[in-house]
Amino acid sequence: MNKKILIAPSILAGDFVNMERSVRLLSEWGADLVHCDVMDGVYVPNITFGMPMIRAIKKITTLPLDVHLMITKPERYVEEFADAGADIITFHPEASKNPIETISLIKAKGKKAGIVINAKVPIEPYLYLLDYIDMILIMSVNAGYGGQKFIPDSLDKVKIAKKYIDENKLNVDIQIDGGITEDNVALAKESGANVIVAGSAVYKANNPKKTIENLRK
Ligand code: DX5
Ligand code: ZN
Repeated sequence: MNKKILIAPSILAGDFVNMERSVRLLSEWGADLVHCDVMDGVYVPNITFGMPMIRAIKKITTLPLDVHLMITKPERYVEEFADAGADIITFHPEASKNPIETISLIKAKGKKAGIVINAKVPIEPYLYLLDYIDMILIMSVNAGYGGQKFIPDSLDKVKIAKKYIDENKLNVDIQIDGGITEDNVALAKESGANVIVAGSAVYKANNPKKTIENLRK
């Protein structure tokens, strides 16, 4: 099944002094989702923002909030992120005590749930989780920072996920995140990704609207 291509710019590359403008521009530019990178300084070395930011952003956009939790023990916070306004919540399964239970907590809030496979994490042990989720995010950089270089090997994991999804006739989106540009996006889509995260490529573009169009086509 070929799914619709969705573009999810990461606000990590936006202007933290004027986040309202950075978020509002995304609708003008034709983005589909707002990708929010939550980092806790434990699962990854970097710290970004938490629930208050999600709550604030929810008030100023009608675009769905795609919240990528790079935090340890995500089960502690998924309900709070759902209440804050997250529409999709993804977490790293190796950081969770019981991924199935974490997925259930998200689903019980009526939100879409997903898992994230970090660059150094193998996908095979987590394929069984595809039966329970709405989206799988394959990292194409090591989670932690924006503006890193795309790791081509990550495409193999996209293909493995796509094969499992097709063979089992599941309705699961495949998202790719990290170092995506207008030059490598075709490879990601050919491999099976249909939700495209792009931080630097969108926010640092001369013509972000055009860039989003190019990422989509
Ligand atoms: C990295 C984040 C990404 C990042 C993407 O840990 O999950 O979402 O912000 O930024 P770019 O597109 O600049 O690699
Ligand atoms: Zn992300």
